[in-house]
Amino acid sequence: MRGTPPIQRRPITDALRASIVEDLPEINDIKDAELRAKVIEGWAFSLAGSSFGRISDMPGEGNPNVLVLKRGDQSVHLRGVAQTAMKILEVFEASHPELRVDRDIVLAGALCHDIGKPYEFDPVNKKRWAEDPSRAGDPCLRHSVYGAHICLSVGLPEEIAHIALGHSHEGQHIGLSTECYIVRHADHTWWHVAGALGLLKPETLIGVGTMMRPRDLGEAEKTAKVA
Ligand SMILES: [Fe+2]
Ligand SMILES: [Fe+2]
Repeated sequence: MRGTPPIQRRPITDALRASIVEDLPEINDIKDAELRAKVIEGWAFSLAGSSFGRISDMPGEGNPNVLVLKRGDQSVHLRGVAQTAMKILEVFEASHPELRVDRDIVLAGALCHDIGKPYEFDPVNKKRWAEDPSRAGDPCLRHSVYGAHICLSVGLPEEIAHIALGHSHEGQHIGLSTECYIVRHADHTWWHVAGALGLLKPETLIGVGTMMRPRDLGEAEKTAKVA
């Protein structure tokens, strides 16, 4: 059999698990201990099947070479989406305490929405797909689809797999849960606002429509550091 990547390139270790919590400290705010552990396990399984050592080794990009951060890795995006999603909830809960939203699913879903990126962004996979896209496609599976596979494989709830799939374009073809809807909009908002703020490479602003006029950060961006 040819063309099929190994599902696991290296063992899952406690050091790998620890790096995930270091890169995504918001994991500690997930109240359900089992869900918290499964989020870590999902990311560990996804990373161990890729060339990336840890989440922060992945580039800060929406899709490969699309919506590329000038500075900052993938963890900056994941943390930003998780924080944005929780802020959205806070705003509505303040005015409408009757809300019935599963906070743990929103937070875990936001932290896992791009859990398939180690596969789609892996240079080894990208090279293989590009060599002959007619064989297995290019990419073979987008991160949303592979992410749903990862979630279900490690026993994360179907609500989280649904968010991994539904946050992206594929979500247009299904009915979205309330929690998925929040994460999807937090994700899209994060990228679009990052673009308008001038944080993305202009040549990678693909699919953002015609209304955006990114701010020129001038000299400030040369000396700035990621917080
Ligand atoms: Fe995504
Ligand atoms: Fe995302």
